[in-house]
Amino acid sequence: MAPPFQHHLFICTNERSPDDPKGSCVHRGALALHQHAKERCFRLGLKGAVRVNKAGCLDTCAQGPAVVVYGASDPAEGVWYTLASTADVDAVIDEHLVGGNVVERLRMRGLKG
Ligand code: FES
Repeated sequence: MAPPFQHHLFICTNERSPDDPKGSCVHRGALALHQHAKERCFRLGLKGAVRVNKAGCLDTCAQGPAVVVYGASDPAEGVWYTLASTADVDAVIDEHLVGGNVVERLRMRGLKG
């Protein structure tokens, strides 16, 4: 059975107390980025092909807003991004999800492993 979506985009929307030294993606604008991603995918007719989900902490807090993309043509560990603006979200949707090319300039740095 084929997977229902070509890509899954998980956006961390974890929120910690503002005084927590780890910070959190919500305090870096993740909720607005999530909403923007959903709206852009809808406008581009990607509903059914791309699923945009909220995620809990992805344990890459210092590099947030943290996003990971999984798709049939992506590596098994997914492609991890730091998306700091709606322009970054647009780039991942246009270049990666639609165009099939990983957006190297936005890939998360300093991952474990
Ligand atoms: S709070 Fe977003 S990765 Fe931890």
